[in-house]
Amino acid sequence: MNFSFNETQLMIKEMARKFAEEELAPSASERDEKEEFPHEAVKKMGELGLMGMMVAEKWGGAGLDTISYVLAMEEVSKVDASVGVIMSVNNSLVCWGIEKFGSDDQKQRYLPDLAAGRKLGAFALSEPEAGSDATNQRTTATRNGDSYVLNGTKNFTTNGSNADVVLVMASTDRSKGAKGVSTFIVEKSFPGFSVAKKEQKLGIRSSDTVSLAFQDCRVPAANRMGDEGFGMKFALSTLDGGRIGIAAQALGIAQAALEASVKFSKERKAFDHTISDFQAIQFKLADMATNIEAARLLTLQAAELKDRGEKFGHVSAMAKLFASKVAVQSALEAIQIHGGYGYIREYKVERFLRDAKITEIYEGTSEIQHIVIARNLLQ
Ligand code: CAA
Repeated sequence: MNFSFNETQLMIKEMARKFAEEELAPSASERDEKEEFPHEAVKKMGELGLMGMMVAEKWGGAGLDTISYVLAMEEVSKVDASVGVIMSVNNSLVCWGIEKFGSDDQKQRYLPDLAAGRKLGAFALSEPEAGSDATNQRTTATRNGDSYVLNGTKNFTTNGSNADVVLVMASTDRSKGAKGVSTFIVEKSFPGFSVAKKEQKLGIRSSDTVSLAFQDCRVPAANRMGDEGFGMKFALSTLDGGRIGIAAQALGIAQAALEASVKFSKERKAFDHTISDFQAIQFKLADMATNIEAARLLTLQAAELKDRGEKFGHVSAMAKLFASKVAVQSALEAIQIHGGYGYIREYKVERFLRDAKITEIYEGTSEIQHIVIARNLLQ
């Protein structure tokens, strides 16, 4: 596979790098400290085409490929992984889900605003009793005339309290299990929809993660995506693509940890040398760089397969599994290289560790990625 990027891909990468350095870097630590959602940044990202990167131009998107999306996600996440996940959910779960599986009417109504950052999307699959066991949906959707009435609770929903549009998986027929789940496009203004609880988190603290409550929430039947019973296939195949975004987010965090470590090791002196003179540090840097490059290639391979319309879910699972592990390892090594400075807030490497950990958990834990990869081998 040849990853010599074309001019557009390189231009997008540079644009995202510049945006992240100029607009995100100065306030990333403060937003993390205050758990402050980056409203202004998200608006600007919409204007730059970063919120609907893969949406076709006819639906108001940037019409770019998944490789460009990976390159931009890495640059943004390198500076602020909270912004990375906001961008990832909107792009690869919400916009991609609607574009791939929505009706023309749904695309027309939702994609232009979501792709331009005028509206924000969320993806509500997890429930108190349906995390890794995603098919165990307890939220119900009961048909009533031209509407469905939704009742239940979703949790761990990224973007949930700021989202205008939420893709909600709910059971239209509990007796059918996974085959009885359907997907609905819910607007925050629909009566019966509310944000129940905002979570306080270890990392990615300036992105919001909430529980959502549906109490006799009336959703027009025209907002059901696909047929009744298609919801689980919708959710799992959309997550196949989402995992490329999270792999790229992990990659960004790992790269940031490496760059901070290289810089610090060339400045920090011990025993009359900069610590970069010591093999103990050099070997750590070399291992970090090697693992990051391998994670990058795997992530790009998943993106390339997706762009070519080939089967890619097992590769996106590998990319997320590997890149998330590399992110956590790299952040830990960065702290070790920084010594005591790595443990204090002023030196942002401790944030890399806090942000990295979630990439091993959301959009399918590492254990779930192992299952997806093994099932593909054994089918
Ligand atoms: N694409 C399309 N369809 C798929 C699929 C895929 N990748 N994987 C499975 N399916 C289909 C199956 O074929 C099956 O349909 P049929 O019965 O018609 O064949 C149906 O979906 C159910 O699949 P399984 O029978 O394989 O279900 P399972 O109970 O054995 O579980 C699982 C499969 C892989 C464990 C799955 O539940 C899973 O991936 N769990 C993790 C869920 C997850 O990633 N959650 C993340 C939450 S979202 C989030 O984090 C977003 C955020 O805000 C950041």
